[in-house]
Amino acid sequence: MITKDIDYVAALLNENQVAAIPTETVYGLAANAFEDVPLKKIFDLKQRPYSNPLIVHIKSKEYLPVVAKNIPMIAQRLIDEFWPGPLTLILDKQNIVSSVATGGKNKVAIRMPNHPIAIKLLEQLDYPLAAPSANPFGSISPTKASHVEKYFANSIPAILDGGTCDAGLESTIIGFDNGRPILYRHGSITIAKIEEVVGKVTYFSSYSSEIVAPGMLSKHYSPKTKLLLVENVKAIIPYFKKCRIGLILYKERKTDDITIYQEILSPNGNLAEAASNLYDAMHRLDQKNLVIILAEKFPDIDLGKTINDRLDRAASK
Ligand code: TXA
Ligand code: MG
Repeated sequence: MITKDIDYVAALLNENQVAAIPTETVYGLAANAFEDVPLKKIFDLKQRPYSNPLIVHIKSKEYLPVVAKNIPMIAQRLIDEFWPGPLTLILDKQNIVSSVATGGKNKVAIRMPNHPIAIKLLEQLDYPLAAPSANPFGSISPTKASHVEKYFANSIPAILDGGTCDAGLESTIIGFDNGRPILYRHGSITIAKIEEVVGKVTYFSSYSSEIVAPGMLSKHYSPKTKLLLVENVKAIIPYFKKCRIGLILYKERKTDDITIYQEILSPNGNLAEAASNLYDAMHRLDQKNLVIILAEKFPDIDLGKTINDRLDRAASK
């Protein structure tokens, strides 16, 4: 059930149930980060391996020491600059955080979301919320309550409606190695912005098949329809004559053929707007019974990097 009733959702969470919550990035599948039982439910609902840790969402910067310790100096600088917001930090875990949430690791991923409804909910609870994106493992993340409903209508008691997620792409994940920043996942905050605050960031080698962060798995964020990421869509369209195809494009239409579904993510060429529309466009195309979705590469700068990262993984076999 989709609801706007924060008290109701708080009551469900207090009873160790799982509920979907809005954030500025994507919707999350949330439960008490201190309790093993509801956290296990999250993994089962998503069919996610227990070894893949969840992100813990906290209500304020001041709450951080409850869940993490040994905060590196540069982590604090990032927090001052980007919280509340789409930046997740991997830090040493406090014992109170369930090791189910952290996949048995002694590090915990933490962020303070920048969404008024998520914060209002967190303020009503005596615990933080562990929440991965509210989609089955590997599939497209939800940016609207209706996307979550499509996945979990019959398996969770409530989806807290917070409208469409502004950012539309998951948080950027940064870890630390001897106090130096390591990028675990491209996200809503660009590397350029992070480097302005902490200097050079090392990239954790991507396309690992090893499960370090599932967001780094080469196959992820995928529609059921086959998706191809190409440099030049116009050159590829002729190979799919008479087929039902869909296009994911940045600024402009690429064909006058009205039988081809074209999703233009930002007619004005704004990467933030394109990011915010990406998953919704993928959800829509995925429901049209297409033979293939062709996505054209975005400019490889700023949020274009994150969009390309997600399209690349959606396309990966
Ligand atoms: O924007 C977001 O980050 C959304 C919203 C709901 O906050 N959440 C999200 O969660 O994208 P999820 O589970 O889809 O992705 C969490 C990522 C995974 O790639 C996970 O492996 C990584 O965070 N992660 C969590 N804890 C970690 C840890 N201790 N070490 C390394 N990676 C970790
Ligand atoms: Mg996810």
